[in-house]
Amino acid sequence: MTRALLLALVYSVMRKTMLASWRASRPSVSVYGKMCVMAINDALTRVVTVGNGKGGVGKSTTACNVAGLAAVAGWRVLLVDFDPQGNAGHILGYTWKGQSDGGQHLVDTLMNGSPLTPSLLEVRPNLDVVAGGEALDTLEDVLTGRLKRGQDIHELFADSLAAVAGDYDLVIVDTPPTRPLLLRLALGATRWIVVPTRPGRTSVEGLRALAGEITAARQMNPDLELLGALLYDVETNATVIRRNAIEDITSVLGGAAPVFTNVIRHALSPVVESEEKGLLIHEVAEQVDSAEPYWKALQDGRKPVRVPGSAPALAEDFVLLTQEILTAIDVHEKEMGVSA
Ligand SMILES: Nc1ncnc2c1ncn2[C@@H]1O[C@H](COP(=O)(O)OP(=O)(O)OP(=O)(O)O)[C@@H](O)[C@H]1O
Ligand SMILES: [Mg+2]
Repeated sequence: MTRALLLALVYSVMRKTMLASWRASRPSVSVYGKMCVMAINDALTRVVTVGNGKGGVGKSTTACNVAGLAAVAGWRVLLVDFDPQGNAGHILGYTWKGQSDGGQHLVDTLMNGSPLTPSLLEVRPNLDVVAGGEALDTLEDVLTGRLKRGQDIHELFADSLAAVAGDYDLVIVDTPPTRPLLLRLALGATRWIVVPTRPGRTSVEGLRALAGEITAARQMNPDLELLGALLYDVETNATVIRRNAIEDITSVLGGAAPVFTNVIRHALSPVVESEEKGLLIHEVAEQVDSAEPYWKALQDGRKPVRVPGSAPALAEDFVLLTQEILTAIDVHEKEMGVSA
């Protein structure tokens, strides 16, 4: 795929979901009319958390690439990395540039109960970040202590994020696989959850763990809803694998669990390139377009620069997924009677 075609696809995200109407119709939780213990703050109605109780299923790759593509299409996006591994910093490159604070700003903000300002502004045009990292390990210890003393922790993140979320068109939260308390904080501030899953039995266990957390989080945040499960790392033409995975997802997450139409294909080399160079997948794909002809290095007696040829196809998957996510939110909001 040429760069022009890729960008045309990106811009179709903007055209189809219409950024202007998106901005004009920011919903208020009052339109949902629910009687609840704690409705999420109006500013949090466009917070999307990417989660799964299993590791290595594509959460961080999905969170970063969806955030990056929405930003390219004009959305003002805040990405919050809630993971002690801080993998978003590798994918977006700020860790490699020595700009990550290892999650310290996020931890300090939550401990002080202050508004959650970004720790990094404009890591790409339209994209700000709250970095994660090892400081979040300390946060988990503090949260455990507070829970033991009978203190409520569920609204800590929601309160801090609500103070700034209204400045953004979209907030995306990346979560860790095995830190239930951190996941609980994230879900307390979440309107929509996106669940990447790889086909196979062990992934179903991760979905079960997540389903339990969603049920618990709904006690405090009844506005939390599953936007969709995402089939991740699949062969695009493996119909039987896809059908079985969809059956598994539906049986674990509930009768009518939505599964995104678009899937993310298996393509390891562009993901490795992305993590090593701090580039999003569409940025790796652009390198493919601008790569020198393979014979040139041979002609000059140099080692050819290897660029992953599967990057454009993977980038296209993420573009289509981003479009599907934004459209799904738009459709849900319209169904709930949010008017411009
Ligand atoms: N489309 C893909 N095709 C093949 N392999 C992939 C693909 N996307 C990611 N991977 C591999 O899976 C690994 C994990 O991806 P990612 O970090 O996005 O998952 P995660 O769910 O965030 O993991 P964790 O639970 O550790 O945070 C990557 O480092 C890469 O090796
Ligand atoms: Mg991750």
